[in-house]
Parts: sequence; C-alpha cells; structure tokens
Amino acid sequence: MGVTKNCTMNAGDSSCGQDPAGAEATHAKNIAPVDTSAVTPRPEGSIYMGGFRAPKIECVRVAVIGLGERGVLQTLHFLSIPHCEVVAICDPHDDATKAVADQIEQRTGKRPAEYNKDPLAYKKMLAEMKPDAVIINTPWETHARMAIDAMEAGAHALVEVPLAITLEDIWRVVDTSERTQRHCMMLENCNYGRNELMFLNMVRKGLIGELLHGEAAYIHELRSQMFSESRGGDSWRAKHYAARNGNLYPTHGLGPVAQYMSLARGEDTFDRIVSFSSPAKGRAAYAKKHFAPDHKWNKLDFKCGDMSNSIIKTKLGRTILVQWDETSPRPYDRKNLIQGTEGTLADYPLRVAGERISPEPADKPEDGQPGGAEISSEGSYHEWYEGEKAEADLYARFDHPLYKRLGEEARQKDDRGGMNYIMLYRVIECLHNGEPMDQNVYEGAFWSAVGPLSEKSVNEGGTPQIFPDFTRGDWKNTTPLPVIR
Ligand SMILES: NC(=O)c1ccc[n+]([C@@H]2O[C@H](COP(=O)([O-])OP(=O)(O)OC[C@H]3O[C@@H](n4cnc5c(N)ncnc54)[C@H](O)[C@@H]3O)[C@@H](O)[C@H]2O)c1
Repeated sequence: MGVTKNCTMNAGDSSCGQDPAGAEATHAKNIAPVDTSAVTPRPEGSIYMGGFRAPKIECVRVAVIGLGERGVLQTLHFLSIPHCEVVAICDPHDDATKAVADQIEQRTGKRPAEYNKDPLAYKKMLAEMKPDAVIINTPWETHARMAIDAMEAGAHALVEVPLAITLEDIWRVVDTSERTQRHCMMLENCNYGRNELMFLNMVRKGLIGELLHGEAAYIHELRSQMFSESRGGDSWRAKHYAARNGNLYPTHGLGPVAQYMSLARGEDTFDRIVSFSSPAKGRAAYAKKHFAPDHKWNKLDFKCGDMSNSIIKTKLGRTILVQWDETSPRPYDRKNLIQGTEGTLADYPLRVAGERISPEPADKPEDGQPGGAEISSEGSYHEWYEGEKAEADLYARFDHPLYKRLGEEARQKDDRGGMNYIMLYRVIECLHNGEPMDQNVYEGAFWSAVGPLSEKSVNEGGTPQIFPDFTRGDWKNTTPLPVIR
C-alpha cells in the first residue's frame, strides 16, 4: 500500500454497508497526521494501470450494487447500450430489486438474478454470477470496500463518485486494481457533458494557448434531500455534513478541468492543495425551519462549512479553484472554466473569450468542417462571446466528435443532457473493444483525494497538503486523453 502512517482502514472494515454512520471515524482518519508524500514501491506482480487494455469482452455481463436514485437510472441506461447485459442486481431492499428486475424483464425478456435482504449480499452475487463489470451506486463509505471486493472477484469496478473518502482507502483501491489487473473507473459523468467535451476539443486544438488556470465547482442547492429519509435514503449524506468539514464532493467540477490540463497524464500532475470553509449555517437553519424541534436533524451539530473553497497547485504551477456548496440558496453552477495564455472558456452560462476567438469563423476550415484551429486572428476578449446565437455557433464549430456521434441518441435517453448515457456507452465500448478506459484509476484517485486533503487543510487552518503520487511517478509516461471519435 502506498501510504502507511497513521491511517486506519475503511475498506478493511468487513462491516461494509452495516455501518452507515462511519462519518465521524472518517473525519478522524482524514485529519490525523500522515506523510502523504511517502510512497512505497509498487509490489512485485502489480502493474501500472494507466493506459491498461483488458482483453476484449464480446458481451459485458454487468452486475449492479445499489438501487437508489442513481443506481436505477444507471441500470436502465445499460438496457439501451449494445454489447452488454445486466445479469444481476443487488440492494438490501427486496422491493427495490423486484421493481428493477420487473422493468429489465419487461424490456429485455430476461430477468436478472436478485440479491437482497443482507448488506453483504453483493459478495454472494460476485461469487455466484462472476460478472465482467460491477457498477457501485451506494453511499460513499461503502465504495472502496465494494470496488476492492469486485476486483478481487475478477470484475472491472465502475464506481460512483467519489472513488473513496480516505487516502488509505484510495490507495487500497489503486493497489487492488494494479494487483488484480482489473479496471477501476470512477464514473465522473460530468466529463461527458456537451460543454465539457466541447472545451476539451477546443483546448486540444490549442485555441486558448498554454493552460494556466481552471475553476471547478459543484454548487447545487440540495437541502431538500434532508426530507428523503425513507429507509435511510439520503440521510447518509447528512451524517457526513455533520461530522466532516471540507470539500466532500469535489469531482464533478474538477474531473473535466483535470482532463483539459492532462493532469496525471504526461503533461502535468497534482502537487498541493489549500482549503478554507465558510461558516456552517444553512443546514441547521433549514432544519430549524422545516423540522420539529425534537427531530434528529435539529439534534445534529452540522460542522461542514456551507461553501468549501480549495485551491490546487499543479506541478507546472497552474492553479485550480475548486468550490462545493450543496446548501446555499443560489443557482446551480459547476463553473467549468479553463483559462490559457490566449483565451478563456467558461460555463454557467456558456461563454468564451480570447485573442483567437471571434464570431467570425476562419477562412480555412479544418477537415472540411467549419471551426478549424484558427478561429480568427482578430479575436475578442474584453467581452464574452455568449448568448443563444453564440452557443449555436460554438456547437456548430466545436462540438466534440463523440458528442456528434452519440449526442442525439443520448439526449433522448437521458434527461440530464445525455452525459450519463454517453459515459456508460463509452465504458461498455472500451470493455468490448479492449481499449483503455477514458478515466483511469489514478484520475479517480487524485480527483477524490481532494475530499480528505481539503478536510485536513481546513482542520489545520488552511495549511497546504501534498497530493500522494498514486501513479508512483508513472504519470510522466501516461498519454493525455485523446479527442475520441
Ligand atoms: N454522478 C452523479 O451525478 C451522481 C448523482 C447522484 C448520486 N451519485 C452517487 O451515487 C451514489 C448513490 O447515491 P444515491 O443518490 O443513489 O443514494 P441513495 O441513498 O438514493 O441510494 C443508495 C442505495 O444504495 C443501497 N445500499 C446501501 N448499502 C448497500 C449494500 N451494502 N449493498 C447494496 N446496496 C446498498 C441503498 O439501499 C440505496 O438503495 C453516491 O455515491 C452518490 O455520490 C452520483
């Protein structure tokens, strides 16, 4: 394992799924003194997984763990994707497995095996069904243990965000992937958003010059999740907000920015992070307003600052602002900003500016398509190029080839603009073709590490925290994610 000092092990906890109140223990682990730069050599027999190609799979047999809000949505997407079959589903609640099995049977004529009643039923499922891939859609504290068990059982692990919530668990996941030679992809769906894909395409064309700075966020007012208490439901999140303080959900904004910058992929990598949280006011105020004085939410002392602010410094010296706020009453925002020496691309709303960015397309289109590398030599940057007409123009000129291929089908099947469908389509396509996954295990590890590292920085008054090098130096030899067609 990469980090050994002063950590205890969530993933080593065999009570996985039976201890949903592990948030306090997680916080204690995340603020404990630890030398994050100390990395042990990769054990013999383990291999570096960046760029790893697994043997091709004709039809990917998928098993699902967790059938809550997210799990049902993901499971149903698989039914429309070629080269895969949902062979088994698992959730402790048998009414949940029955309802989803009914839908699958109705749509495909085949009923998946159902595993339920026991939080450890997923282990039986892994042993009996021997799936090719397992998708994990459960509360955060269970992700690492389940991913490790899935890979040990011979399956590729597809893990909802974040990959894990302590550094030691992140290392365990990385080490298991390297030892078992199974993919472990954290499912950062926002990397497949139309604008994120388009920005990646524009950045790779060199339109904003050398990259300097990014801004990433997950700002989404979700206090009403406090009402979703049936069968434990979303209340697992509230326990984390009560016990921990930092950026507990960093990957939606950071994932895309990290791939624009090719962090941990040859060009540059994560170096250090500082973090500060605002006061924690909104959750307690909401509980007071909406729940009885003796309700459990009114007995919690919410410690997590409403707005979490972190700045990441990369090895090349670039900066990334990462914010997280699921509490304050304000509009949704993932920022999605990337700034270079020659221009800036930003979102919410979509807008661009730069020396080579102008409403006038280039005279010489690239590949016969409008919108080649040279947009204009007379760009504009004192005002944003934005609005309905600008959006249509930018999409026409710069939509990512993957979005052009799958976007329309994805939009019909996915009410979140298609990003979930495109992500799962690519997951199956990569496994079917024996291609590297679009997000390797190290990217999931670095993006998720912002959780525990920000907690530690906040706890220490904003001191810089060093990112562990989950690649053990191999990021230098990893190719950047190409523009997939
Ligand atoms: N990428 C995204 O856009 C996105 C959106 C929502 C949620 N998520 C992630 O998805 C995960 C689930 O979130 P959700 O909103 O669906 O939560 P949820 O509470 O609605 O569902 C969690 C499900 O996991 C099940 N579960 C718990 N322990 C289990 C066990 N031991 N074995 C099998 N099933 C178990 C629960 O019964 C429940 O059905 C979280 O990690 C969350 O961060 C991601």
